[in-house]
Amino acid sequence: MIHFGTTTRAGRAVLAGVAVLAAVFAAGDAFANDVSFKDHVMPVLEENCLECHLPGQDGYEKSGLNMGSYEGLMKGTKFGRIIEPGNATLSNLVRLIEGLASPEVRMPHNLPMIDKSKRNIIRRWINQGAKNN
Ligand code: HEC
Repeated sequence: MIHFGTTTRAGRAVLAGVAVLAAVFAAGDAFANDVSFKDHVMPVLEENCLECHLPGQDGYEKSGLNMGSYEGLMKGTKFGRIIEPGNATLSNLVRLIEGLASPEVRMPHNLPMIDKSKRNIIRRWINQGAKNN
């Protein structure tokens, strides 16, 4: 148990360590190589998107987007790709989850926005090339 109000030497050392870690996390890309489709991205999609984006569900039937697999995600909708590997900002998927496109198609549809940390996982994965890793 760490007491943050501590004045002992050990306590100060721990606090300094926490500060360094916080700075590293703020820098973000220090952990950039760690984003994995299977371990990090897919769980976010499972939790927030798949209830509507599998065959038979509303989102899939309307848009053609099947997010149940890497291949389906990369294929995109019936209108085309939603991921531009290496460029999250140009990727339609990111625009939709950030609410930058028209409000009717903000995703998840008619539900609260997903957490920023989870949006950032997707952003970083796309910026790293959207690999099947
Ligand atoms: C509650 C159901 C639901 C959830 C959850 C949901 N979607 Fe959708 N999605 C839809 C529907 C319905 C459409 C079709 C919208 C339309 O064309 O009017 C759609 C369409 C889309 C499209 C295509 C939009 C276009 O412009 O053609 C993308 C991309 C998309 N969803 C991504 C996502 C992502 C990413 C998530 C998870 C973060 C998600 N959706 C979660 C229902 C959902």
